[in-house]
Amino acid sequence: MEARHETVIDVSSPRELSEARLHARSMCELLGIRGYPAQRVVTTVSELARNMIRYVGEGTMRLGLDLDTKRLTIVAEDRGPGIAELESILAGEYQSRTGLGRGLIGVRNLADEFDVQTGPSGTTVTAAFRL
Ligand SMILES: Nc1ncnc2c1ncn2[C@@H]1O[C@H](COP(=O)(O)OP(=O)(O)OP(=O)(O)O)[C@@H](O)[C@H]1O
Ligand SMILES: [Mg+2]
Repeated sequence: MEARHETVIDVSSPRELSEARLHARSMCELLGIRGYPAQRVVTTVSELARNMIRYVGEGTMRLGLDLDTKRLTIVAEDRGPGIAELESILAGEYQSRTGLGRGLIGVRNLADEFDVQTGPSGTTVTAAFRL
């Protein structure tokens, strides 16, 4: 296997969301990751893809593996309007009108590393898991 590998999946429908989930699951299986550690990765893909579909309509999911840094990385990138309320969302103070408002906080808690870059031309959420 190459030291670095990345799979790019465009998501704009529930079908592509489940494709991305399946891909994340098989990536984990190949790495011998199962049970809760695998669930952390799959749930992250799910939540971020669901947000892109619901709030933007489409986006790109990058499922990466870097054997040098021993990281599995999930990057969700879209060209939507951005997340204006990010601070209050991550502080747990946000009242969502469309869901529980726990998706991003959940991902932050699941991942070993978590980062959000957001602005009027889009949002990039990065979640990394140590192998
Ligand atoms: N990619 C995105 N682009 C624009 N706004 C977003 C994006 N992702 C999330 N948001 C905004 O941030 C809010 C919080 O997202 P989060 O996923 O934490 O909770 P939620 O989607 O409201 O509920 P759920 O718990 O079902 O995920 C959303 O309500 C939405 O307004
Ligand atoms: Mg959500």
